[in-house]
Amino acid sequence: MADPGTPKYWAKWIVRRPSLAAVKEALTIPSGQISLEEGRLLGSLTQTLEPSRPIVEIGTLFGWSTNVMALAKPAEMELITVDAYYWNPLGLSKRDHFAITSRILEEAIQKYNVKQVRQDKAEFYRSYSGPEPALIFLDADHSYEGTRDDLEWATKYENAIICLHDYRKEWPGVIQAVDEFGGFDRIAGSLCVLRRRQYYPRSPRC
Ligand SMILES: C[S@@+](CC[C@H](N)C(=O)[O-])C[C@H]1O[C@@H](n2cnc3c(N)ncnc32)[C@H](O)[C@@H]1O
Repeated sequence: MADPGTPKYWAKWIVRRPSLAAVKEALTIPSGQISLEEGRLLGSLTQTLEPSRPIVEIGTLFGWSTNVMALAKPAEMELITVDAYYWNPLGLSKRDHFAITSRILEEAIQKYNVKQVRQDKAEFYRSYSGPEPALIFLDADHSYEGTRDDLEWATKYENAIICLHDYRKEWPGVIQAVDEFGGFDRIAGSLCVLRRRQYYPRSPRC
């Protein structure tokens, strides 16, 4: 083995060092993730939740929004984050994407009751048999049909707070589906909170 003081020793690291462009891309790319403004709303909602019921997140990506909720929730409260690792802005393979996200979420998983589920959301919706979630955060595929399916599942839980990301003109399917399900009553950036009938009980005179 080469002596650590020699150029030969360091050559292998220099060869493996990624380009500056790749490092910039990896460290600064905001694509797909919630912003600070959106995270502050999600975090403040998380702080109000009943800890005996879980949080369900659909769309983990690299765990940024997962960690926002993990920071805000009581340590023992369960947070299930679901992703099939179909997409990421760096073009990583599904295997690498999952492995990197597991590493990012390691502390949250080990100490703060976060469960990383690698599954298609449709399969998760079919198989989920846990308690009614306190909060459901929907941020996976943003087509009209995909968002409608998400909302059909989520609205079965009458007492869940339902949040969606990307309610904005670039994602008309999200806007259409949210509006069909009654619209929103809070929004920060493009993260909205679905309007639920039980938040607005009908007056006895109606
Ligand atoms: C916009 S990113 C999520 C961003 C993340 N919530 C954040 O703010 O940090 C969307 C994620 O949804 C996942 N996804 C898309 N369609 C899915 C499906 N049918 N089932 C499970 N995950 C899916 C993608 O693999 C991707 O990681």
